[in-house]
Amino acid sequence: MIKKCLFPAAGYGTRFLPATKSMPKEMMPIVNKPLIEYGVDEAIQAGMTDMAIVTGRGKHALMDHFDMNYELEHQISGTAKEALLNDIRDVIDSASFTYIRQREMKGLGHAILTGRELVGDNPFAVVLADDLCINEDQGVLAQMAALYKQFRCTIVAVEEVPRDETHKYGVIAGEPLTDSIIRVTDMVEKPEPGKEPSNLAIIGRYILTPDIFEILENTQPGKGGEIQITDALLEQAKNGCVLAYKFKGKRFDCGSVEGFIEATNYCYENIYKK
Ligand code: UTP
Repeated sequence: MIKKCLFPAAGYGTRFLPATKSMPKEMMPIVNKPLIEYGVDEAIQAGMTDMAIVTGRGKHALMDHFDMNYELEHQISGTAKEALLNDIRDVIDSASFTYIRQREMKGLGHAILTGRELVGDNPFAVVLADDLCINEDQGVLAQMAALYKQFRCTIVAVEEVPRDETHKYGVIAGEPLTDSIIRVTDMVEKPEPGKEPSNLAIIGRYILTPDIFEILENTQPGKGGEIQITDALLEQAKNGCVLAYKFKGKRFDCGSVEGFIEATNYCYENIYKK
């Protein structure tokens, strides 16, 4: 039902400097596959076919990755190495890729608003590729797409985090509808220590209804002077319905060095070696 998936990928990735000085953070490999490809795999598994990527300066490698490389194909044609390209060839055949540039890095909310032209007036998914989500049976986006069919409103994925880490996230509060679904009534972006409304942190998976664009257009810069998606979501929650979903699976914050190493070890043992 949801065909479009937006990948905001214009950020500077400063936590990973110098690696991200000239290479997009989303191209950093977990074992032998770039982060963004894991995100695209997850979207395809959820039935999505239109990948819309918000890029910025110096992000050409992203576009090249989801395109043919004829020289390379020719070079390894007929050798055993050809099989290493099977997965990415399947990805390229299964989805379309469009790109738009965010000219100024004004925050995640602004990056999502920049994607409006590519998304149009449709409900859509958002994947922050530096949050790597792994669940063997059903990916996190597929779980959320199933929920969207039932509720037809915006859904954010949340995870319980230790209280002393809530200051890194958007944090929600609300009324539980089931063990895993909460109707959001409050949201705070990067709360000050002790001021967090709960320990439920929003992670990088969203399903958004298109009215979010109107709200984003009128959202003023918030925390850090950036246009925050959290502020727009709170507005949406006040006037309609936003659900938070405690997903099944593992999430690695690959935007941090520790999370990146954990994800690498996990994927090497549980995916690559199998
Ligand atoms: P982050 O703040 O985690 O990413 O933004 P960053 O800014 O690239 O990384 P650090 O903190 O400097 O290390 C979350 C997501 O939103 C995108 C980023 O690419 C990332 O996927 N983003 C953020 C944009 O596309 N545009 C922005 O203006 C800001």
